[in-house]
Amino acid sequence: MHPLRSLILAAAGSDTIRRAVTRVPVTRNVVWRFVAGESTQDAVAAARGLVAAGLTATLDYLGEDTTDEELAGRTADAYVELLDAVAAAGLAQYVEVSVKLSAVGQLLDEELALANARRVCAAAASRGTTVTLDMEDHTTTDSTLRVLMRLRREWPWVGAVLQAYLRRTAADAAALAMPDSRVRLCKGAYAEPADVAFPDRHHVDLNYVRCVNTLLSGDGYPMFATHDPRLVEIVADRASHHGRKADSFEFQMLYGVRPAEQRRLAELGHVVRVYVPYGTQWYGYLMRRLAERPANTGLFLRSLVSHT
Ligand code: FDA
Repeated sequence: MHPLRSLILAAAGSDTIRRAVTRVPVTRNVVWRFVAGESTQDAVAAARGLVAAGLTATLDYLGEDTTDEELAGRTADAYVELLDAVAAAGLAQYVEVSVKLSAVGQLLDEELALANARRVCAAAASRGTTVTLDMEDHTTTDSTLRVLMRLRREWPWVGAVLQAYLRRTAADAAALAMPDSRVRLCKGAYAEPADVAFPDRHHVDLNYVRCVNTLLSGDGYPMFATHDPRLVEIVADRASHHGRKADSFEFQMLYGVRPAEQRRLAELGHVVRVYVPYGTQWYGYLMRRLAERPANTGLFLRSLVSHT
């Protein structure tokens, strides 16, 4: 892994740096490029704009690594409120939600996270939309897949996320390429040790393509989350090779990243879903986005230095 990337991901876990960074008001100019705002209304407004442009969305109420049971419950409440607002805006057909189990209590107790996730899934089901469980660092993978399987007994549409940087992912993709199975494939955004994850980008990309083929040749609904132009091209090519219709898979990209490409793919007839984070707990999310692209880090550091 690139040393700058490791450094930024290490900062993502530091409370001292988080406190310093979130206090500087101007940092927020950089934040709002990647985060839709702080409130439910901000998230729904961003989704409405995307849908008007021919895109779909998955909304993420920011927060992770919750160690407080009450806060975990309040996070589930926030999702229920969000799902009400999405339905009231008439957007449920185009807009779903993404949930991090660590935000709803996974670090405290898997059963607590399951109970909170159940509340969110029940709300999504009654409003006519879906839920995808984000994937976090590798220490949570087994637990997240266990919770996923239990949720899917009731709601088979609950989406999973697989990370191509993990060595285990080819096997997980094969296991999840089944009917009704919604699977988001991404490269992976956390700092992981070499015994569980491929340390170099080339192997991550190769594994991504291997999983693209597995998911497209299976019976599920794959969701390819990447901004990598080469991988986007490969996905489109492999989808037509596997005889996939345009509505049987989708591309996903992050809010604020390659927006012109998002629209271009939608204009070609692809389903394109934009991942829209919102809320006040943006620090960990922002640090992972900065780690992905040194140019973002330069912008961010300049904004800090010019105001301290
Ligand atoms: P890569 O990082 O190689 O980037 C390719 C190109 O895309 C770059 O050269 C640049 O042009 C552009 N780009 C990428 N990131 C950028 C950024 N932040 N700012 C500006 N340009 C950028 N991870 C995870 O571990 N668990 C999860 O649940 C999810 N969920 C998820 C959902 C969605 C919809 C997306 C798009 C991504 C995720 N991720 C994720 C993050 C994912 O694992 C990965 O870290 C990022 O998508 C970056 O990887 P790329 O595939 O884009 O390639």
